[in-house]
Amino acid sequence: VGGLPEAEQVRAQALEVAAGWSPPDAPESWQLTAALFEAISEHDALVAALASLPADRLAALLASAAITFLVRRDRPVPLARYWPDPGSPQPAFDPGFHPAAAAFISERLDDVLALCTVRRYQMNEVARCAQIATGIGAIAGPGGLSPSPAGQVFALVDLGTGAGLGLHLDRYRYLVGTRAAGPADASLTLSCAQRGASMPPPASLPLIGPRTGIDVAPIDLSDPAALAWLEACAPPEAATLSRLSAAVEVARRHPAPVVAGDLVDVLPDVLARIPARHPVLVVDAYASVFLPPDRLAGLIAVLADTGRVRPVTWLSLDPLVPLGPEGRESVQGLELPASLARDYQQHGVFAVLGAVTFGPGWRRERLLARAHPSGQWIEWLDR
Ligand SMILES: C[S@@+](CC[C@H](N)C(=O)[O-])C[C@H]1O[C@@H](n2cnc3c(N)ncnc32)[C@H](O)[C@@H]1O
Repeated sequence: VGGLPEAEQVRAQALEVAAGWSPPDAPESWQLTAALFEAISEHDALVAALASLPADRLAALLASAAITFLVRRDRPVPLARYWPDPGSPQPAFDPGFHPAAAAFISERLDDVLALCTVRRYQMNEVARCAQIATGIGAIAGPGGLSPSPAGQVFALVDLGTGAGLGLHLDRYRYLVGTRAAGPADASLTLSCAQRGASMPPPASLPLIGPRTGIDVAPIDLSDPAALAWLEACAPPEAATLSRLSAAVEVARRHPAPVVAGDLVDVLPDVLARIPARHPVLVVDAYASVFLPPDRLAGLIAVLADTGRVRPVTWLSLDPLVPLGPEGRESVQGLELPASLARDYQQHGVFAVLGAVTFGPGWRRERLLARAHPSGQWIEWLDR
């Protein structure tokens, strides 16, 4: 969409998200999210106003969050009855949604735009932990490809952690394909389907000790307003909201440090504070993809520098760069099969899961999987 006028870029972004939520096999609960993005794309005055926002504000997504925020807060009739509440089933969808949404956007256009001007779109998808945990299982877990000594305690750093939900990946249960892993009494189970012929390794994690998140704009879960905005940024889909609330409860029960700042600037100090006895896992789900090329190079330099002193493994679950339909390279610089980049450009967006370990003067890398952007499936590529 790069060459389109701004308004058409906003419309194209809305339609792309709507398409992502309406594949032929989509569950009924996805209808509202797809219809919300269609409603945004069809509202000319909204699209025209959103076009004045800088492209990196993700205007169509921001508008969906603003509308959801207002609908939840003000309960407009009849629109509010379409929105699920966390922990409740998805309300029935019907064709009355479209006229109700168009009328609401027209009536509340100024309020929607005011929110879009002051807020950032910041989505946290805890389901991505199933893909990340599978990646960690492959490189470090018992029975993994390069197992670490039993009982060794890893340190975890989560880049772009947002609300810190990714800091608790050892506290969730996983059902990846047909394989279960994680604590049997976990309050949240994340299911991730297997695509393709290769069975992913079990999502069994090593012991995790010290954990630190980094985010340029951390979300304070003790602040009701921040939580309401976090929920508004989640797609209005019952299962998504339920797992978000369950993960928020876990994060509240186990407060973990989150450092505010740009990840490239803050990471050296965070790594330096981790006791030497812990091998380090640096996890990045949909974070480093947002770095400009020189900053991404800066991140890689920080990790390589650390690797000279102690091994550090960087797991990245990110779309290809440059961000958008022209994406062709992995953020980690992994060699990709030509078919994978072609597929990415033709059939829309997925993430690539990769692992790079930095040691003194060496770097080992592994392309692990391609993965659904919201944690719903994984296609294992590593042999
Ligand atoms: C798309 S969200 C992903 C959040 C979480 N990792 C997940 O997968 O659900 C990207 C996060 O990265 C943060 N972020 C983006 N650029 C960053 C930077 N340069 N330094 C630190 N955090 C950054 C954003 O504030 C946001 O919380």
